[in-house]
Amino acid sequence: MNNKYVGIIGLGAYVPEKIMTNKDLEQVMDTSDEWIVERTGIRERHVAAENEATSDLATKAAQKALEDANITAAEIDLIIVATGTADMAFPATACLVQDNLKAINAAAFDVSAACSGFIYALVTGSQFIKAGVYRKVLVIGAETLSRITDWSDRKTGMLFGDGAGAAVLGETPEGYGILGVDLGSNGSGAELLKVPAGGSRNPATAETVLQRQHYIQMDGNEVFKFAVKIMGETTSKALQNANLTPVDVTYLVPHQANIRIIKSAAKRLGLPMEKVVVNVDKYGNTSAASVPIALDEAVKSGVIKPGDIIALVGFGGGLTWASSIMKWYK
Ligand code: UT7
Repeated sequence: MNNKYVGIIGLGAYVPEKIMTNKDLEQVMDTSDEWIVERTGIRERHVAAENEATSDLATKAAQKALEDANITAAEIDLIIVATGTADMAFPATACLVQDNLKAINAAAFDVSAACSGFIYALVTGSQFIKAGVYRKVLVIGAETLSRITDWSDRKTGMLFGDGAGAAVLGETPEGYGILGVDLGSNGSGAELLKVPAGGSRNPATAETVLQRQHYIQMDGNEVFKFAVKIMGETTSKALQNANLTPVDVTYLVPHQANIRIIKSAAKRLGLPMEKVVVNVDKYGNTSAASVPIALDEAVKSGVIKPGDIIALVGFGGGLTWASSIMKWYK
């Protein structure tokens, strides 16, 4: 183990222009603005244009992150895209981003860890730098969930939104950057949150489409119970790995799935809501993109400052969970 410190040296985010409010949703599903706000905290979400796919959102977020890091695309050694809504089953969306950016020296691959994906990608990417293999890694969480959302299903249709967030990883001064992490999975919960058809188990057919099996299916209550338990647990473990405790945390940046899940995680960690970054009201659940979009907003608006201790935490399909504690550098 060497003593290199690795952290985020540039950030960027992009959400599509079109906004869909809860009132708009009332037109297509049996729901109400009041129910959605009270049960989820979501007021609106962004939806990709017809000609926009995940790689397009990812590229725009990445361009901002490169600018913020003040480096060129040619300096990137590796691109990792975390997504559950790749442009195609293959090639990897990361390869399409590599081409868009003209990142001619970069390797590229995707990570599939649902809503925990960005933190999985962040931890993976940081290892290449720590090991001395690469110097600059671009990590992106990007989703066009609107393409796999069943707008007629009120159990899931009001939750999701589209967007992308990107981070450039590089070496940081001693004591800054990633200080502790925790990653985990429990595949016995795979059935709780899935897109049933379109893969090798259940290839897409006219029948699977008729049965709407190409859309997200979720047992919301079970995922909710899992989420409130795991958010506190994984954050505590990552803090322990960093030799810190919850009182050291300046800001918690949680996966933005539901305000009730976020509040209950904060309570379990003993953190007041003033220390929690929340933007689920504006974007809904953007899965792998939610943590980097929230982080970008908090940093660019001056809320998060250099020297702050930041806890990123996510959970999602798989089931998966992930957290990363950082001393903010940039
Ligand atoms: O990124 C990770 C992915 N997912 C999540 O984090 C989601 C975790 N789960 C949740 O956020 C919540 O379980 C939901 C928001 C999905 C659902 O909230 P809930 O408080 O668990 O509601 P529920 O499913 O227990 O439903 C309560 C009632 C039911 O009516 P009855 O049976 O009590 O008459 C539902 O039919 O609310 C009804 N309902 C709705 N009403 C209006 C469910 N969805 C809606 C809706 N609009 N969209």
